[in-house]
Formats: sequence, structure tokens, C-alpha cells
Amino acid sequence: MAYHDRTTLTLAAPLTPPLASQAPALVLESRSDIARIHLKAHYRRLGTSARRLRFMGQPSEASMDKIADAALPDMLIEYVDQGIVRGVIEAYRTKGAHAEVALSLEDAYQGRGFGRMLFRAGLHTLKEMGVRHVDLYCMRNNTAVLALVRSAGGSVRYLYGDAFAEVCLDRVLAQPSAG
Ligand SMILES: CC(C)(COP(=O)(O)OP(=O)(O)OC[C@H]1O[C@@H](n2cnc3c(N)ncnc32)[C@H](O)[C@@H]1OP(=O)(O)O)[C@@H](O)C(=O)NCCC(=O)NCCS
Repeated sequence: MAYHDRTTLTLAAPLTPPLASQAPALVLESRSDIARIHLKAHYRRLGTSARRLRFMGQPSEASMDKIADAALPDMLIEYVDQGIVRGVIEAYRTKGAHAEVALSLEDAYQGRGFGRMLFRAGLHTLKEMGVRHVDLYCMRNNTAVLALVRSAGGSVRYLYGDAFAEVCLDRVLAQPSAG
């Protein structure tokens, strides 16, 4: 599967239950009602540590459900395997040409390069949407996501236990191999 290929990404059909394909795919989900359903199910499948890292706390299932029910992402890319959303990158436009992103993967899918794949696809898609600055907030000790930010040329500021990262898309994605 050519994960980074934009053609693959845009041609992947939006998922509607029941999920048609069992093959792994990156899917750009454009329907907000389906995005909410998928996010809710995905958050519930995250392990304890992944929930803590993603939400920077220990949300109850009810709190995560509320977050998913209210979610209106400007971009959602899903990593789907065996018909189930195993990981996502979500982006929300904030001010100016900024968007805030968050990523998460089920435990069994972490540390296998899928986060890097989602992050790269997300940066390219956001750039096409006119976003120029990607912001990401995480815990200071979140080595994996900060490695992604750094390898995309992003900068990181620390305040107590938190990290504030920014990736400037103009600079990073100017080179075809970057991001
Ligand atoms: C953060 C996350 C999306 C990264 O995705 P991933 O698929 O696990 O990471 P990858 O396999 O693509 O690896 C990306 C980098 O992180 C490093 N990494 C991966 N898992 C790591 C771990 N457990 N500890 C330290 N570094 C790790 C990799 O070595 C790689 O860095 P490198 O290229 O410098 O070697 C995923 O781990 C996750 O869902 N974590 C829980 C939720 C979360 O932390 N979200 C981010 C806050 S918004």
C-alpha cells in the first residue's frame, strides 16, 4: 500500500458502516457525523496510557464520548485496518492559518511507523487546505509525538509538564521529501 500517496488517500471511499474493505488504508473522512461515530469508537479502544497521552489527563469513558460527540474536525485522516479505525490524526482550525492537531493509535498499532504515516499525510493535507502553521500540545515526556514534530522540522517550547510544538508548513513541505 502506498500510504503517502495523495491519490490513494483521496480515492479511498469515505467509510460508512458496514465497512466494505478489510485492506489497510488511509482514509480522509469528510462527513462530520461519521467522523464523530468513528472518533467515539476509536477513543474507547485506546489503552490507559494512550488516553492519558492523547487527552493529557485521565478522562472517563463518558468524558471521551462527550468530546467525540461534540467533535467537528476540519480534517480527519484515519488508519483503517480490518475494517476498524486503528488510528487517527484530527485537525481543528484555530486562528489565522493555524490548525491544532492530535494523533492517536490503538496500543497494538503503536511503534510501527503508522503515527509517522498519519502525521505526514496530515501535514500534506492541511497544507493543501491552506493551513500554514500546525500546533500540537502534549505532555513533555511524550517522546514519540515529539520525535514526529522534530523530524518534520518543528519547534518545541516547554512549560512545566507540557510541550507546545509548532510546525511551519511553508518551510517544511517546500522540499518534496520533507514532512
Ligand atoms: C504518538 C503516536 C501517534 C506516535 O505514533 P507511533 O506509530 O507510535 O510512532 P512511530 O512508530 O511512527 O514512530 C515515530 C517516532 O517515535 C518514536 N517512538 C515510537 N514509539 C515510541 C515510544 N514508545 N517511546 C519512545 N519513542 C517512540 C519512534 O522511534 C519514531 O522516532 P524516530 O523516527 O526518531 O525513530 C502513538 O504512539 C500514540 O498514539 N500515542 C498515544 C497518544 C498520543 O500520545 N498522542 C499524541 C498527543 S496529541
